[in-house]
Amino acid sequence: MSMSPLHQPFIDRFDESESPVRVFYAPGRVNLIGDHTDYCGGLVFPCAIDSGTTMLIRKRQDDKVKLASMNFELMAALAPDELNQKYGDNWINYVLGVIDQFRQRGIETTGFECLFSGNIPNGGGLSSSASLEIVTAFALNQLFDANFSDIELVKMALAAENDFVGVNCGIMDQYAIAMAKKEHAMMLDCNTLDCEQVPLKLDGYQIVIVNSNQRRDLVDSKYNERFEECQQATRDMQKQLDIKQLAEVTPEQLDANLHNFSSEKVAKRAKHVISEHNRVRQAVTALTNNELEAFGQLMNESHQSMSQHFQASTDIIDKLIEISLASDGVIGARMTGGGFGGCTVYLVAESQVENFIDSVGKRYKEVCGLTADFYPIQSDNGMRELS
Ligand code: GLA
Repeated sequence: MSMSPLHQPFIDRFDESESPVRVFYAPGRVNLIGDHTDYCGGLVFPCAIDSGTTMLIRKRQDDKVKLASMNFELMAALAPDELNQKYGDNWINYVLGVIDQFRQRGIETTGFECLFSGNIPNGGGLSSSASLEIVTAFALNQLFDANFSDIELVKMALAAENDFVGVNCGIMDQYAIAMAKKEHAMMLDCNTLDCEQVPLKLDGYQIVIVNSNQRRDLVDSKYNERFEECQQATRDMQKQLDIKQLAEVTPEQLDANLHNFSSEKVAKRAKHVISEHNRVRQAVTALTNNELEAFGQLMNESHQSMSQHFQASTDIIDKLIEISLASDGVIGARMTGGGFGGCTVYLVAESQVENFIDSVGKRYKEVCGLTADFYPIQSDNGMRELS
């Protein structure tokens, strides 16, 4: 029997049963550099963080699927024929999307009941949804001996989000959350899925995540809009160059073809994607060579590009970045993830972290009227069963 502190809440929510309870876990992730490149076949550089989603699960004697969460009141009890339709507009759809992928691959699970508990800072940008998808995919694979490979589970979780939930996201989050290695960040080529685990040697520096707590409105629709603009940029370049994905365009080819985009806006999106893809490689080289200031500088440039060319930042986030960069010991600052509010990530000298939290918190409140949350984070491993 599991020793998880969630065991009792689990037992309390469901009927008596002899079936053993198993406990699974998947972390959240922070992307250090390389945003809005994944769905353009580019490079990304995320690591898993030390908060995530825990899932307790056991088989039922009947064919019902019962889903509960410590974070939300909503609880669902579904018959098999109710599993393939959306359940309102909430967290349950991420789980249903994954079940749907198992079914599409011929795995009809018998009934089960599960309880989720997440501690990923909310507010967006740290992939709480991909964490939920991956922990579900991993747990169902184990519980029902489905024998899908890790990479297949990643693809199933991604398809759940793309097809069932309806967000055109790329593969970064699901991949990172599944495959992460503690004390490493991964340089993933989202075209080939080649992945290099790079030691996160941050001697004397700390990764700090700051949640702006700016309300994120219509994020999914803005994300899909950017996705479409990048598709357009790709089609524009395909008329000129022999490429499949936008990230294949070199900076020189971009410069030579700026007049060949269908609009100024589409050209700006392409400028971001192509420069960002190249920044990831430079950043990884800098990190490997212990050039942390150069790494930080690339983070700063990444933010400028996200803000100016990709227009995925907000005035408040830009202000937060500006305030943070003025604080002692900060060598890198950028928004992280999809954007349009949410979380930002920093490299801060360890000796200055306390001061950073204090001074940036105060100044941000004064200038923007919002209270930020600060999370100095450690890297972590990917999906796993907890013993
Ligand atoms: C979200 C998506 C990812 C990626 C980032 C931006 O997190 O889920 O696939 O596109 O935005 O880099």
